[in-house]
Amino acid sequence: MSTLDKIKQRIENLRKQIKYHDYLYYVLNQPEISDYEYDKLYNELKTLESQYPQFITPDSPTQRVSGEVVKEFKPVKHTSPMLSLDNTYSQQEIYDWAERISKYVALKNLEFIVEPKLDGLSCTIHYVNGKLHTAATRGDGETGEDVTLNVKTIRSIPLSLEPKGSVEIPKFFEVRGEVIMYKKDFEELNKQLQQKGVQTFANPRNAASGSLRQKDPKITAERRLRFFVHSYGKVESKTEITTDEEFLELCKKFSLPVVQHYKVCKTIDEVVKYCLEWQQKRDSLDYDIDGMVIKVNQLKYRDKIGSTLKAPRWAIAYKFPARQATTVLKNVVMQVGRTGIITPVAELEPVECGGVTISRATLHNFDEIKRLGIKIGDTVVVERAGEVIPKIVKVIETKRTGKEKDIEVPKKCPICGSNIIKQEGEVAYRCPNSSCPAQVINSIVHFAKREAMDIEGLGESVAELLVQHNLVKKLSDIYYLTKEQLLTLPLFKEKKATNLLNSIEKSKQKPLSKLLYALGIPHVGEKSAEVLAERYETLDNLMAATEQELQSIPEVGPVMAKAIKEFFSNKFTLQVISELKKAKLNTTQPKIEKKETQIFANMTVVFTGELDSMTRTQAEELVKTLGGKTSSSVSKSTSLVVVGKNPGSKYEKAKQLGVKIIYEEEFLKLIKKK
Ligand code: IVH
Repeated sequence: MSTLDKIKQRIENLRKQIKYHDYLYYVLNQPEISDYEYDKLYNELKTLESQYPQFITPDSPTQRVSGEVVKEFKPVKHTSPMLSLDNTYSQQEIYDWAERISKYVALKNLEFIVEPKLDGLSCTIHYVNGKLHTAATRGDGETGEDVTLNVKTIRSIPLSLEPKGSVEIPKFFEVRGEVIMYKKDFEELNKQLQQKGVQTFANPRNAASGSLRQKDPKITAERRLRFFVHSYGKVESKTEITTDEEFLELCKKFSLPVVQHYKVCKTIDEVVKYCLEWQQKRDSLDYDIDGMVIKVNQLKYRDKIGSTLKAPRWAIAYKFPARQATTVLKNVVMQVGRTGIITPVAELEPVECGGVTISRATLHNFDEIKRLGIKIGDTVVVERAGEVIPKIVKVIETKRTGKEKDIEVPKKCPICGSNIIKQEGEVAYRCPNSSCPAQVINSIVHFAKREAMDIEGLGESVAELLVQHNLVKKLSDIYYLTKEQLLTLPLFKEKKATNLLNSIEKSKQKPLSKLLYALGIPHVGEKSAEVLAERYETLDNLMAATEQELQSIPEVGPVMAKAIKEFFSNKFTLQVISELKKAKLNTTQPKIEKKETQIFANMTVVFTGELDSMTRTQAEELVKTLGGKTSSSVSKSTSLVVVGKNPGSKYEKAKQLGVKIIYEEEFLKLIKKK
């Protein structure tokens, strides 16, 4: 074989590997290799393609992001209308729907396919002779917008259909589905936007929509969108498809990501049960769903039942009960956070909302109050999503009586009485008094929490006691507490006092990264604290760094750099730090000696079962500090499986694949050596 042939072969092999790992990662959620190994493959391909451009093909993974920027999205006429769905809101309405369609086909003959209703935006993708040809949004149902370049950047979507097994590639294959953003990716994106000072998105659906409809596909590529197929459009294929389930199975053979958790049900009772099951479990998913879709499974019966102009009769959406409710705003109280920011909190007439009673909601800040145009006494709509704090979404102005009262920005801190200030360019109002008891209590709680200095026994109630009894006026005071003092507090006996003092003492050894995070520097989260600690090694070095220098660190933006500088030039902070040093707190970051301590370097470790000596998270953290990666599933590329009590199927899989297995005892020995 000539060298050129060998290079071509290597390029093809790399593409195959990358496509395979994209599928494992983005579709199955079961990666087999680390990001590092993936990047290595990708970079090798990129380099080879730049040296040998004659071998670049449009469906190469490197071609997902094009350099093109469009002026406007071209219209795409749909092959058949992209209909919407009629909604139902109760079990009874599902039974009513079944009754209606039984006029066309006897119920006993019907099967139903039931699946989550994804809260995203619908999109259609055409594959012509197996190659991704066109992608379009729903638009008005008849004509959509051409978003091909944007859709190509979504890694879970194959650029070409490469069937598993003996399936023919269809001449034309149109899949329709939902573009969504995972909840965690949405939060991450909003955090980044906020740091850049740009408008954030209200929810994952808006984020998905805003990210897909970007004129510059490079931005879409950065946005971690996902796609799930839930229906079909025009299909010209030799493979016979008689049910929706068969269609979805065929999609899977083409490595297309299909809607998860679909179930074929034989009776309406079963359908209803499955819908209610997911109503309970909806928050366990990585993404938002707003209901379930119920469809007739057999395609021949779909034809018989037919569609109206707007929606098919053979399908219906069951919408989950709204997590919105109407109630009255009784009062607004001001909470003072750890940095002094005043957060207005709404006190509500208690109301049931999505299964729980709510009586408080956050109002975020005074701009939000202005935006909502809200007054005390107003009738308002509240919304609760997932585990987050309920929020007020709007005011029902027609319910106004004229007796409502404006919400005033407080002039004085409700806790310490200091004059409240507002800095230019900031939305927030603050209590400027660093010794404000509310600030001190909240700072202590943050300082002591597990991810920070991990001081057991120092939670909210103890922090409150310490401050109320004047034992602690600023953070550093906790390191000067004596047993005699603690014993004066209610509910504090010898043992509790000793334990608390011991955990305070122990916390002195924490590395600089934890201390930095614990100090609560605005904009410095856990990860940035680690980056800073590793870079500067000592607190003094960091404090001496200039704003410019800080900004030169890739992970540190201008906002964070400024915040760090300001934090360390504050007199009160400097006093706290000097007293922490006097109390002999460690202010350095231990160096990780690459070769000696990185015992898990280049290894992927999987845990199964319960460990006696530590939690799973702690064990995984340890592996990471010792240079390794962790994964939640076992595959051929797993280097090591650590087995605890009651191991799960991963243990069996490891044995099957011949992956190295060790038990807790050996794991402890391994890490002790370090
Ligand atoms: S089936 C005729 N299945 O909901 C339309 N739609 O309200 C057949 N949607 O525009 C659609 N999840 O984009 C179907 N699992 C799912 C869905 C789903 C979300 C969207 C769809 C449609 C909208 C209708």
